[in-house]
Order: sequence, then structure tokens, then C-alpha cells
Amino acid sequence: MHEKNPDVRPAQQRIKRKPEDVAATPPEPRSFKTAFTPEFLKPYHKGVMDYTYKGVSCLKSPIDLAIYMKLIFDLKPGSIIEIGSFHGGAALFYEDLCRNYGLDTEIVTVDFRTLEENPTTQASKSKVRFYQADAEHLEESDLHAALDTLPRPWLVIEDSAHTFRVSHAVMAYFAKRMQSGEYLLIEDGVIEDQGGNWRYDGGPNRAVHEYLRDFPDHYDIDTHYNDFFGVNASFNPNGYLVKR
Ligand SMILES: C[S@@+](CC[C@H](N)C(=O)[O-])C[C@H]1O[C@@H](n2cnc3c(N)ncnc32)[C@H](O)[C@@H]1O
Repeated sequence: MHEKNPDVRPAQQRIKRKPEDVAATPPEPRSFKTAFTPEFLKPYHKGVMDYTYKGVSCLKSPIDLAIYMKLIFDLKPGSIIEIGSFHGGAALFYEDLCRNYGLDTEIVTVDFRTLEENPTTQASKSKVRFYQADAEHLEESDLHAALDTLPRPWLVIEDSAHTFRVSHAVMAYFAKRMQSGEYLLIEDGVIEDQGGNWRYDGGPNRAVHEYLRDFPDHYDIDTHYNDFFGVNASFNPNGYLVKR
């Protein structure tokens, strides 16, 4: 229970999912193909890479930003835990959004680069908490030590290396620690449609596919959010996961 936020209830009470909102484990019947054509993706991706929030790089597709805004309002997370800070623009966005919603959600962001290399996070007047950690070994980090103090429900956003190993490691790490009804977003499976999966050893899509195949009781794909603008009309195909 988040003392300062009376609106924080157990996550499973907050978002009422209908049976049809929960997808079967891949590969059947869900494909990882996004709704986007290669012709559409090229300039769209450029826009994502160039996008800024309050002048700070914020590497999000507008469709996913819209879904995140809705999910955050619906879930009213006690904490948002972002893995992969880059310049901190997304963390600033989450912080402002939560304040606008009247939530005092704790915003935590993690990167293996130091704050000096991510100067905008440090320079801002925000209360975003930064931890330096390797996403593949979170149990060795200061985040791990602080995790129990983070208010629930959690929204965890994996946006770091995008390799198979790291995406899979983050899914495994949080499966042990998340509560039913909390969310884990695995970003950027779209790299497969962009032809880049080979550089990431199969990337997030391979991680989601193998993890859900091997541990079908850990997460469901929440298709209400995942498919909000069309089936896998997202940079995160099959990446909107809710803890069982
Ligand atoms: C795509 S950027 C994050 C973008 C940010 N979330 C946003 O939306 O603006 C990826 C970040 O992950 C970090 N990163 C890459 N591999 C990592 C790892 N194994 N552990 C922690 N951070 C990592 C990089 O240093 C980089 O800052």
C-alpha cells in the first residue's frame, strides 16, 4: 500500500480484464509481426529516434506513448521501473504524466551507463531515481536492494539492450518479484520487422516467445493494451505482459 496515495489499490483490483483480453501463449495463435509495413516503418522509426520530450531524447513510438498513457491511468502504478534510461526523457515523461494524473508514483530508471553519461536525467529538477545496473544481472544491483521499498503496483518497462539474453533475464528477474496484475512491457520487438533481429540474437521477440513457452504460468499478454490500435500495432509486439 502506498501511504501517500490513497488511490493505490492492489493491482488486480484496478484493471478488470475480460477473458478475451488475455492472449494464448505464442507461437499460436499470435504472430510477432507488427501491423506496420516496411515502407511505413522506415520514416516512423526515424521519428521515434528523433523524438524529444521537453527537449530530452525520448525514444518512444507515438502509438506506444498513447497506450502507456492509458495503461498508467488505468493501473495507477505505485512505481514505474524503467530499465534503460538513455537521456532520461521517457522517465521525465512518466513523472509529469503521473503528477498530472494526481499520482505520486515513484519513478525509477536503471542504466549501465553512469549519470554523467546521461546528463539530462541528472540536470533536471525531477525526483526520478537513477540506479546504475546491468539489466542482465539486476540481482547484483542497488535496485535489487531497494526493490522491496518500491510502492505497488509496479509497471516495469524493459527498454535496455534488446538482446535475447537481457530481455529474457529481465522477464525472469521480475517474474519472481512481481505480484499478480502488475505489468511488464518488453519493448522493441519491432526490430525483427526492421530486419535487425540477427544483431540481437533473436531480440525481445525470441525472449517473449521462449519465456512464455517455457513458463506459461508467469505472464499473459494483455491484448486490450497490446492490440489497442490494431493487432500488434506497436513497437512492442506481444510485449504488453501482465503478471499472472
Ligand atoms: C533504447 S535506450 C533507452 C531509451 C529510454 N528508455 C527512452 O525511452 O528514452 C537503451 C538504454 O539502455 C542502456 N543499456 C543497454 N544495455 C544495458 C544493460 N545490459 N543494462 C542496463 N542498461 C543497458 C543503454 O545505455 C541505453 O541508455
